[in-house]
Amino acid sequence: FRNMGCVKELAESSTLSSIPSHYVFSTNLEDQVVTEEIPIIDFSLLTSGTPDQRFKIVQALGKACQDWGFFMVINHGVPENLREEMLEACQRFFDLTEEEKREYADKHVLDPIRCGTSFNASVEKVFFWRDFLKVFVHPEFHSPVKPPGFSEISSKYSKRTREVAWELLKGISESLGLEEHYIDNAMKLEKGLQVLVANLYPPCPQPQLAMGLPPHSDHGLLTLLIENTIGGLQIQHRGKWVQVNSLPNSFLVNTGDHLEILSNGKYKSVLHRAIVNGKTTRISLAMAHGPSFDTVVSPAPELLNSESNPPAYSGMKYRDYLELQQGNVLDRKTCLDRV
Ligand code: SIN
Ligand code: FE2
Repeated sequence: FRNMGCVKELAESSTLSSIPSHYVFSTNLEDQVVTEEIPIIDFSLLTSGTPDQRFKIVQALGKACQDWGFFMVINHGVPENLREEMLEACQRFFDLTEEEKREYADKHVLDPIRCGTSFNASVEKVFFWRDFLKVFVHPEFHSPVKPPGFSEISSKYSKRTREVAWELLKGISESLGLEEHYIDNAMKLEKGLQVLVANLYPPCPQPQLAMGLPPHSDHGLLTLLIENTIGGLQIQHRGKWVQVNSLPNSFLVNTGDHLEILSNGKYKSVLHRAIVNGKTTRISLAMAHGPSFDTVVSPAPELLNSESNPPAYSGMKYRDYLELQQGNVLDRKTCLDRV
């Protein structure tokens, strides 16, 4: 069964009291982890606030992108039961038999539906304590056929989160001093890529030695994440790891590499990682929103100045970037150095 379903299976074998050596992650997990107040964005002010409220929330968005690359979104209007149904549907996917999941295993990084373990088990020496399902849900909608109902729920959920993400990107455009549809147009969002990424982190007998996902940044523009009440996400802020304790019913939003490129480094993509625990299965669901495949993303000319702000990135087609980042060992922000 090789490169898929491994961690769930492994964790369920009742005799497991220590982790196999290829799961031992060498980086020091004893780094100090702190709790800090993370920026909160009230989405309703963006869509139905007074002009003054909208002005203020756009500024708050800009500040959150610049200082953190991360914020929590509340009052977004996506129904709580839809979020829960979506997380349950992901759990049901992971509960399918190996035989049923095999159809989507060992796929190329640009295949629209694929599942597996770790990040890219075909190139990694150290594995992460994580199984995943990745599905391209926009511009073309894809879905695994099983479990029953997955397609219907994920189609609804994708649409609702896409609307939230694209609305946030309008506010972010404005916060950069650009016209509200700037990102929309420059990234060709009507054909923009949206990827559903479900992560399963089973209980780990030695959680301090393993890693769910190593420090990395996301490739796209904005990622909206939810989780099943179990924490595990940590973000890097001013050189320290910050534990993310999500507010009920909120979206955890992080900025991606392509927002960093577009903003010429003003809004740096946030470095984040997922830790594992010894007791409970954690499921997280990230919806990643990026440009269209064929967009060559480079810094917005409107933000550049040949003396004080020359272009810091030369640009790359999004499809190529995706393949580069997803096809290699996940390693901090090393991909961005190549743009
Ligand atoms: C991710 O970085 O894609 C997932 C992080 C998490 O599970 O919290
Ligand atoms: Fe991520």
